Amino acid sequence: MNKFIAPSILAADFGNLQRDVTMINNSDADWFHIDVMDGVFVPNISFGMPVIRAIKKHAKKTMDVHLMIVNPDRYIEDFKKVGADILTVHYEACDHLHRTVQAIKTQGMKAGVSLNPHTPVSVLEDIIKDVDLVLIMSVNPGFGGQSFIENTYKKVAQLKSLIEQSNSNAIIEVDGGVTDKNIEKLSNAGVNAFVAGSFVFKSDNPSEIIRNLKNSVSN
Ligand code: DX5
Ligand code: ZN
Repeated sequence: MNKFIAPSILAADFGNLQRDVTMINNSDADWFHIDVMDGVFVPNISFGMPVIRAIKKHAKKTMDVHLMIVNPDRYIEDFKKVGADILTVHYEACDHLHRTVQAIKTQGMKAGVSLNPHTPVSVLEDIIKDVDLVLIMSVNPGFGGQSFIENTYKKVAQLKSLIEQSNSNAIIEVDGGVTDKNIEKLSNAGVNAFVAGSFVFKSDNPSEIIRNLKNSVSN
């Protein structure tokens, strides 16, 4: 199974966005992780369409867009237009999750569903076969630079067995507090895609950090 490293643009230097996008293009990273926050679903506002369009202009890798917004259905077509390849919505933000997932796929994107730390994996039982990706939040969404929640390992194991029992093709992504201290254990537990923001961008050599993360999960 492939392993994907997804540096989070939230931790990039927005005054030097093209430089940071180029760094990711030239690194061992696999995806751009792009966090959209609306100040309603989460207590923070990040950025929207113009910034994603600007990233897309230079990005040469998969655009993994994580929506932390209420009523994401309103913008599915718009996110496709600005370049999303994977569009992930929160379980907690969708009244009609099945319809939302189908709408994302109809637009030709991969459909992801994210779970907050307090939301049990079991809520996905009836949708797991329809989704391409499940994003387990390993911090409370809204901010970069928080500490990893240890209960995540248990959730990853539960999700892995749900996926296997259901013959689902969903892959598992983890987001929040990912570092060289937990990435191998997460990988061994069954995680396929690893989001890392602060750990990559707050270092002196982001592309070396990305290379090390990638090496530690590749066999
Ligand atoms: C948090 C975001 C994350 C964030 C991760 O709500 O979804 O993608 O950028 O940042 P770190 O790696 O610093 O926890
Ligand atoms: Zn995210």
